[in-house]
Amino acid sequence: MPKKLRVLVLAGGDSPEREVSLASGRAVAEAVGHLGHSLLAIDPATGKSLLGPEGKFLADGVHELPPDSKSLAVIRQKGAIRTVEKFDFSAVDVIFNILHGGRGEDGTIQALLDLAERPYTGSGVLASALAMNKHASKKLFKAEGIPTPDWELFTLKEPKLSPEEKGKLKRFGYPFVVKPNDGGSTVGLTVVHKPDELEGAVEAAFEYSNQVMVEEFIAGRELTVGVLGQTPLPVVEIIPKHEIYDYTCKYTAGMTEYICPAKLTDDQTRLVQELGLKAFQILGCEGFARTDFRMGKDGVFYCLEVNTLPGMTNLSLVPKAADASGLSFEKLVQKIIDLAMERRNAGS
Ligand SMILES: Nc1ncnc2c1ncn2[C@@H]1O[C@H](COP(=O)(O)OP(=O)(O)O)[C@@H](O)[C@H]1O
Ligand SMILES: [Mg+2]
Repeated sequence: MPKKLRVLVLAGGDSPEREVSLASGRAVAEAVGHLGHSLLAIDPATGKSLLGPEGKFLADGVHELPPDSKSLAVIRQKGAIRTVEKFDFSAVDVIFNILHGGRGEDGTIQALLDLAERPYTGSGVLASALAMNKHASKKLFKAEGIPTPDWELFTLKEPKLSPEEKGKLKRFGYPFVVKPNDGGSTVGLTVVHKPDELEGAVEAAFEYSNQVMVEEFIAGRELTVGVLGQTPLPVVEIIPKHEIYDYTCKYTAGMTEYICPAKLTDDQTRLVQELGLKAFQILGCEGFARTDFRMGKDGVFYCLEVNTLPGMTNLSLVPKAADASGLSFEKLVQKIIDLAMERRNAGS
């Protein structure tokens, strides 16, 4: 039995990935309970407990589409993530942060938790901020020899590209990808197949960020590599029913086939795991994270991004990969907590 701890689960938040985070939060909270720890769970967007009578986790499932910006604006008016400031952190031993996207994943909450001087799971401020910024992380990948699709970043004042900016897209050919620089869960992302789709794609990305990225489309297989501690987990291949691994394919049962370990040669497996670990390390990630790749027809593994707070439902990718390496969901949760406590003890 692990040492009994007082664990605070943070889930929900005010990003478009709010519902996904609540689903992760429920799974983590249940595991924390089964592990024999005492449990608190709070949604920082509302400041309210997520536990009902008898400690039951209160939250609905994930809908087919993410909450729209209007409903998120209503949630933000409730005092947003600042409500965490009022929490008495001395009452807990460790914080299990399973917020996804936005201020829960971009270093903001991590800074608040640093000030609270309590250990928390996952990456710290800098790695979280870098990983959330696809442009910044891709620059580092490129500098360190991790292949990443060619891209162009536009910082926009209005949801459209100037003729000069459009000119920069000529080298991509069709299709190409338009996405918010700091999004997640494929929200605001479009594959543009022909010129008249560009306008709508830029508008969709701009809805979530004034920094819009255009990226070369990598036709081929989709793979993801989780890292736990400093060890890459078995590779997962993702085969979505749609052209890309979009929100619906991510969160609707039966819309995606997952193969773990992915059917790759030993050399390919080693290479993509090395790249996943290297991406984790150059951003300075801690605890656990997951790196997304597309394997081009040329056999090159192109790194798309690192997710510092990947999904943690029983069906999510890191839990799947951990399971393939013999680590149950509960053991995975305990390991992530242990890594947070070790980091704290190491004084970082
Ligand atoms: N350059 C690309 N080429 C091909 N598919 C892509 C590309 N970029 C994104 N995708 C598809 O969109 C999904 C989400 O993109 P990603 O960059 O990982 O952003 P998010 O943070 O939203 O997960 C990927 O899992 C993949 O299916
Ligand atoms: Mg991704």
